[in-house]
Amino acid sequence: MPKSVQFTTHGGPDVLSVVETPKPEPGAGEVRVRLYAAGLNYIDTYHRTGYYPVPSLPSGIGLEGAGVIDAIGPDVNGWSAGQRVAFVVTSLGTYAEYRTVPADRLVALPDEIEFEQAAGMMLKGMTARYLLRQTYPVSSEDTILVHAAAGGVGLILCQWAAYLGVTVIGTVGSPEKAELARENGCSYPVLYREEDVVDRVREITGGAGVAVVYDSVGRDTMEQSLQCLRQRGLLVSFGQSSGAVEGFDPVMLSRHGSLFLTRPSLFHYVASREELEENAGELFSVVRSGDVTIPVRQRYTLEEAAEAHRALEARETTGSTVFVIN
Ligand SMILES: NC(=O)c1ccc[n+]([C@@H]2O[C@H](COP(=O)([O-])OP(=O)(O)OC[C@H]3O[C@@H](n4cnc5c(N)ncnc54)[C@H](OP(=O)(O)O)[C@@H]3O)[C@@H](O)[C@H]2O)c1
Repeated sequence: MPKSVQFTTHGGPDVLSVVETPKPEPGAGEVRVRLYAAGLNYIDTYHRTGYYPVPSLPSGIGLEGAGVIDAIGPDVNGWSAGQRVAFVVTSLGTYAEYRTVPADRLVALPDEIEFEQAAGMMLKGMTARYLLRQTYPVSSEDTILVHAAAGGVGLILCQWAAYLGVTVIGTVGSPEKAELARENGCSYPVLYREEDVVDRVREITGGAGVAVVYDSVGRDTMEQSLQCLRQRGLLVSFGQSSGAVEGFDPVMLSRHGSLFLTRPSLFHYVASREELEENAGELFSVVRSGDVTIPVRQRYTLEEAAEAHRALEARETTGSTVFVIN
């Protein structure tokens, strides 16, 4: 029977285990996909720990994948068995050999994009796209600050921003990550363990501060992010790898220069079919042209799911991590 990763209780990485279950049958409006690769995302750890609620236990895990359509349910038009596809979904369970997917959430995968690349970029790459093109539409005049610049979203953000002519300052936890961020378009990697981030940002921007901070770290960086912005700049708090920001007082926005704050989610930026196609289309376009490459830097099997989660939470990973499903 096909394999998938499940957890029956919330907890540390060891709650993840491989189980065998029958192939799921696609319902109305759904297709079944035979997955060849699935992406690891920080949000998966939130589902595993219970920080983000899951509908029921036992639960599958994972929100993105790439593979081939294997069966078509009723009321599905425009898709056929054998087509290469990729997707991000809101219902858990992509660390699996098979899963059903609403047909309106699929995107056709161009032949030049491999399954592993697709699994490494659907969620993170579409996030980079909406952050840079919609949440704050960057221009070549801008200098921006990206936290966790060598991370999964971080490396794609740095590359894409550099491709758009933006000057990128990025925080990183080690000299190796600094080098990697630099290779991926970050002009000014800042080693936050050794350097004062606010001082460095002020120095690089001639005292002005940056137009926007893309902050996926949360608790540990929130205050610093506010201090790095220029007047009326935008703080995009889009994640919390270090823990949740609590007790935020809006007066802080005024104190640091009439700042703006948003806490966006990818799912609200690709909610309609049109938005999904526009975002994925632009992502595929920059990847096919080679302007953005997808650094898949760690690969695991489904049996190694616990190890993959442990490495991500221990800050040992860089770029994208995927599960290779044979
Ligand atoms: N809102 C959205 O639409 C959206 C979409 C995608 C991802 N996200 C969020 O963005 C964040 C990053 O996701 P990702 O998958 O790309 O992960 P990631 O950035 O590859 O991994 C997390 C990185 O954050 C840094 N970090 C700082 N403090 C940390 C701590 N206490 N524990 C662990 N890591 C810490 C580490 O880099 P250093 O060693 O350099 O410090 C670490 O490598 C997550 O919070 C995720 O949920 C949000």
